[in-house]
Amino acid sequence: MANIIVVGAQWGDEAKGKIVDYLAQRGSMVVRYSGGNNAGHSVIVGEEEFKFHLVPAGILHPDLLCVIADGVVADPGILVKELKALSDRGVTLSNLKISAACHIILPYHRLQDELEEESRGDEKIGTTGRGIGPAYADKSARHGIRMGEFIDDERFAARLKSVLASKNAVFTKVYGREPLDADAILSEYREYAKFLAPFVTDTAALIYEAAASGKGVIFEGAQGTLLDIDLGTYPYVTSSHPIAGGALLGTGIGPTLIDGVIGVAKSYTTRVGAGAFPTELNDETGAAIREKGHEYGTTTGRARRCGWLDAVILKYACRVNGLSALALGHLDVLSGFKEVKICVGYQSGDGTRLSDMPSNLASRTDLTPIYETLPGWTEEIDQISQWEELPHNAQAFVHRVQELIGVPVVTLSLGPARHQTIILNERVLQTGK
Ligand code: IMP
Repeated sequence: MANIIVVGAQWGDEAKGKIVDYLAQRGSMVVRYSGGNNAGHSVIVGEEEFKFHLVPAGILHPDLLCVIADGVVADPGILVKELKALSDRGVTLSNLKISAACHIILPYHRLQDELEEESRGDEKIGTTGRGIGPAYADKSARHGIRMGEFIDDERFAARLKSVLASKNAVFTKVYGREPLDADAILSEYREYAKFLAPFVTDTAALIYEAAASGKGVIFEGAQGTLLDIDLGTYPYVTSSHPIAGGALLGTGIGPTLIDGVIGVAKSYTTRVGAGAFPTELNDETGAAIREKGHEYGTTTGRARRCGWLDAVILKYACRVNGLSALALGHLDVLSGFKEVKICVGYQSGDGTRLSDMPSNLASRTDLTPIYETLPGWTEEIDQISQWEELPHNAQAFVHRVQELIGVPVVTLSLGPARHQTIILNERVLQTGK
């Protein structure tokens, strides 16, 4: 099987876990390459629902190796809780590996996240408050603590004390807060370190071996293209690289080992947190999508902002990720609308028409979406298993999306369960192309 990157093509929450779970049946390894416990996804197996924040969705397949790679920032307490919960439900963890090079999130990162958000006033990003931005900032500033150091008791104590001294100076002098206590953190986090130590290794070498052997590695993205620190709607982004390029940076694999990139998108658009969202619907249609699609965050429970599908954004995602295919999901949520819309361009304040995403989208308040309106379908489609059985108008919607973005739609998801999937192109799923 091919080495395939699965990437979110919108602003996250596209249900990447489901397609990863599907591909994982044939691969030998699933690798989570970026983000932290700001992400959250659910996989439904039979009657059981599993929720993940850090552990790759592939963990439900006992014969697969699952890797949390270098590009992830891992909160040890959350990770231990997630692993213990999985183990309590009978899921085997012997196939999990954690990179010694991934950075860890500590209590001062969460406090920093909260204080920095507060100080942004009206320009809040709407972060998940999990300490993600501060942890990546420390990584770039070269005072982050990596997993390999964390599980070395002496080294961790020394590093923590040194980093915390400068963090506490900021907490007390700038924000007028109480300092954090190094000993209290040490005694709690040593327990996590002991639990995690057996899983920690040099994962870059393992991933290389699996990718080069042709047994199939699935690179599991978190968040989505438009939340990328460089290519997203900056500054309303996360602090990592959710895009396909992030899978290389975050694992230590070179581009020539990648066979294909599958983007995942909903049949409409959602976003959590602040920032530009041209097709957002602040009306009963947006509310109807939210209710029908259960659009509330897995991690924070926040109501997601909802709107029509934006093909301009999708085309951009195709370009910056080099998408070979699209997995289109949540099509069932559009059932019942008299008509459905797809944004095919933006009208700018000076009257010009844009058909490509402008790089300054985040600060463009003058853009109005230009829509194509298609007839809707009334039938519920969540139990349909064949393309031919879909209502004609649902098929036409999929065809039009495919035409607009110029890459094939290879799977359709009609609900969260494994069986609620229509495979349109098995060859692409096998070969990545
Ligand atoms: P942070 O990643 O917690 O720093 O949050 C930065 C921005 O990314 C905020 O708008 C969050 O709502 C958004 N974000 C982070 N992770 C996710 C995700 O998994 N899904 C959707 N939005 C996310």
